[in-house]
Parts: sequence; C-alpha cells; structure tokens
Amino acid sequence: MNKVKIGIIGTGNIAKTHAGNLKSIPDVLLESAFDINTKSSQDFAREFGMTVRYSIDEVFSNSDAVYITVPNKLHAELSLEALTAGKHVFCEKPFALNIDDAKKIVKAVNEAGVVYQLGFNRRFAPVYKKMKDFIIGGDLVPASFNIKMNRGELQFPPWTSNPKVTGGFLFESTLHLIDMVCYLFGEVKKVTAVGSKTIYPCVDDFSMIFEMENGVHGVLSSSAHTTWMYPFERVEICGNHFTIANDEMETVTYCSGLDQPSYQEKFSTLSIEKRWGFVQEDSLFIARLLGKQEDGMDLIATHIDGYKNVELIENIYQQIGLGL
Ligand SMILES: NC(=O)c1ccc[n+]([C@@H]2O[C@H](COP(=O)([O-])OP(=O)(O)OC[C@H]3O[C@@H](n4cnc5c(N)ncnc54)[C@H](O)[C@@H]3O)[C@@H](O)[C@H]2O)c1
Repeated sequence: MNKVKIGIIGTGNIAKTHAGNLKSIPDVLLESAFDINTKSSQDFAREFGMTVRYSIDEVFSNSDAVYITVPNKLHAELSLEALTAGKHVFCEKPFALNIDDAKKIVKAVNEAGVVYQLGFNRRFAPVYKKMKDFIIGGDLVPASFNIKMNRGELQFPPWTSNPKVTGGFLFESTLHLIDMVCYLFGEVKKVTAVGSKTIYPCVDDFSMIFEMENGVHGVLSSSAHTTWMYPFERVEICGNHFTIANDEMETVTYCSGLDQPSYQEKFSTLSIEKRWGFVQEDSLFIARLLGKQEDGMDLIATHIDGYKNVELIENIYQQIGLGL
C-alpha cells in the first residue's frame, strides 16, 4: 500500500478532530468526504483538501479505509456495509446499540479480515495510560475503584438527548468509562445498577456497582444533567497502599505508599487532541493498516471490546427497566 486513502462518512465535530490528526501523517491521503448535509461535506472537503462524495458507495470506491463519524444509530449499519465492501474501518463509539448487531459486526470483521478499530480515545490519554502502566508494571495492585463520568447537558449536538439516535445516555457518554473499567480491571463478573429519568427523555442518571472476575470491585456513577463543573470525570483507584486519581484529562495524582510524597503530572501543555488520546488512536490506526508495529497497539479497542460493552449496557438497561 502506498498512501492510505481515507474516506470520512459524517463530517461533523469529531470528524474534524480525526481529519486534523490524519492530515499530519505522511502516509495518509485524505480522499473522500461524505455527509447527508452537502454543505457540511463541501466545507469539510475544502478545509482538509478532500473530494466531496455524494454516496457511501462512491466513498468505498475511492478509499482503503473509512472513518464512521455519524450519530450512533448508524454505526452498525455502516460498519457492516464497509466491512462487506472490504474496507478497513475506524468507527466512533458505540459500534452497535444491541447485541444482535454486535454479533453481526464481530462475524463480519472476522470474515473480512480487515482492521476494525473503535474510537475509545481515553485509552491513550496520558492520565489513563499512567494508570494502566502502574497496573501492568505491578506497582499498583488494584483492590477497588470509584469513578464518576458526568455530562453537563444533552443539548449539543441536539440529537444527544434522543435515545432513538444515541441508544441511550450510557451508549452516548458513559460508555467511555465503562470501557475504562474493562481496560483497567479486566473481565466484569457482575454489574448491579439503578437509574432514573429526570431532566431528559432518556434514563439520564445512573449508579452502578461492578464486581470483576479478578476480585476488584468498584462504583461508577454517571449523570447527564450536571453542570460542567470541574472535574466532570474522575477515576480513583485504591490498591496496596497505592492511590491514583485523575481530574479529567488534565492531571493525574498518585501516591505509592505510606509515608511517601504524592506526585502530580499535568498535561495542560499538550494539545487537547493529544491530552484526550485522539492523536495517538489515529496514528495507531494508520500504523496498523501499514503493518507497522508500534507501542500501544495492544491497548487499541477492537470489535471484541465493543461487543463486551454492548453486552454490559444491555444488562444494565434491563435491570433498570425504564427503557433507554
Ligand atoms: N470519541 C469521542 O470522544 C467522541 C466525541 C464526540 C463524538 N463522538 C461520536 O462520534 C459520532 C459523531 O458525533 P459528532 O459530535 O461529530 O456529531 P455531529 O452531529 O457533529 O456530526 C455528525 C455528522 O453526521 C452527519 N450524518 C447524519 N446522518 C448521516 C448519514 N446517514 N450519512 C452521512 N452523514 C450523516 C450529520 O449531518 C453530521 O454532519 C457520535 O457517534 C458520537 O458519539 C465520539
């Protein structure tokens, strides 16, 4: 493969982040831009030096790999179409909103033999990478965790409050931290959940208890109607007299023992795209397409991770019993 030809389906907010990252990778040719809103794809194509396409098939015909960056409910259908066309796929989270679609995608990825990657950028954010490194290195042996993942509103973009489009708030936002639970602590043995519908027409407030196969346990609370008061996202892990916690993607603070100082690393000097892990995930996606081996490839979220997330979220919604 010479330059990897990229097609982008859905030219909204997050597509701009990915295109901005991809533009600076020499092995990439940003080729095709498609959106049902033609004005959006035209502006996008102009900004990133791409060709406007007017159908999904036109995108497939002109791309080696596609980015699926449309609202949630379209991810499964477009993933299946792209996989059937033999394209490598980078799909924004969530890859499916129900287990039937999740199964179809897993089968299609296995049959297509292409690269399929999910947009769980936080796995590469320096704050979470630090936690993962301490766990892998054996310095931190986690016993329990305390996680919050809040969101100020479900108003921007407007479709985020519509569960028919998002699949529910868990699939829209909290999913990032549900993935983080699995990324940091392994397989979930049991999850117990309660929730309520308060401000928005979906279940918008959740409290969950996780029990992991390795004995780690913890809580995750997630509300969609807080303010944007800092920090809206925090993971705190306790272990063998070792504590580590982040404040959003800005800082990580840790203390490795009794009678030890605590250390804080601040990442506010990095670009937001690096701080949130977007640069790293895009760069690893392209490296995989080119068959290169790079640090961090073992941390990428695959269709298998996506499948586990869908299974967990379906289970949580069933327990709450209020619909999405
Ligand atoms: N990983 C992250 O941190 C992160 C951040 C933001 C968004 N996302 C995910 O990315 C996806 C897009 O979010 P966004 O904020 O960019 O939304 P957005 O509304 O800004 O952009 C979505 C675009 O898709 C287009 N679109 C809708 N239906 C289409 C169709 N059938 N064919 C082609 N284009 C279509 C819309 O016109 C719009 O331009 C969502 O699934 C969201 O959950 C992930």
